[in-house]
Amino acid sequence: MTVEIKTPDEIEKMRAAGALAAAQLTMIGAHVKPGVSTGELDRICHEYTVNIQKATPAPLNYRGFPKSICTSVNHVVCHGIPSDEKILKNGDIINIDVTPRKDGFHGDSSKTFIVGKGSVLAERLIRICQECLYRGIKTVRPGAHLGDIGHAIQTHAERNRFSVVREFCGHGIGRIFHDEPQVLHYGQPGTGIELSPGMTITIEPMINAGKKEVRLLPDNWTVVTKDHKLTAQWEHTILVTETGYEILTYRSDDTIPRCS
Ligand code: MF3
Ligand code: CO
Ligand code: CO
Repeated sequence: MTVEIKTPDEIEKMRAAGALAAAQLTMIGAHVKPGVSTGELDRICHEYTVNIQKATPAPLNYRGFPKSICTSVNHVVCHGIPSDEKILKNGDIINIDVTPRKDGFHGDSSKTFIVGKGSVLAERLIRICQECLYRGIKTVRPGAHLGDIGHAIQTHAERNRFSVVREFCGHGIGRIFHDEPQVLHYGQPGTGIELSPGMTITIEPMINAGKKEVRLLPDNWTVVTKDHKLTAQWEHTILVTETGYEILTYRSDDTIPRCS
């Protein structure tokens, strides 16, 4: 397996694409309220991406995906399809996953929001999942191994009696939306390929409140927890730097440093 090393010019374009993903998640947050449909959230993001950012929503028509963003509500793990029939209600949780492409490069990021006031469990699941993402990111530096990321995530999730989804993973990213390597969210330290400066990857743990097993719905996209318990996800696009990491999709609501 060969993992692409980005040139300084390519890294600049990845920063630009990442900034657009971050801006979209910040923008859409104001629209996540009881009564809004996931179809409406999709339209707002689509218009913003195309008309304001002059970028392309990479999910649209990607392997047949019909919409511009993924909206995954409550027990939906990932790849939820926005719909005018799906109306958010108080206490729901929703992951919004956006991937603008600009100048040929992708920025991929997601965040789980609470609609109105969430349960104690929902709040805790979302917080622990974000902590899992942050713990994974903090292992990133030249010489670290992919397994270090997965181990940090798995350890934190399971210590809190949550489980890690195995079927979906982070990925290399650049001109290609889903490139090598696969970034597993579980594993053993020191295993897997070694990270080098100039690699760009996503880390995007899906953490379940119940068991780790998932099921694919007949629409062939929507992934749900088998036990129908809550699930959360957070995602950032990360650059491996000489000194550690840089979060290319960093937002002002992030609570770790952008770079190490
Ligand atoms: N953004 C997702 C990821 O993090 C992929 C969505 S693919 C789609 O990798 F087709 F469902 F949009
Ligand atoms: Co991704
Ligand atoms: Co994504």
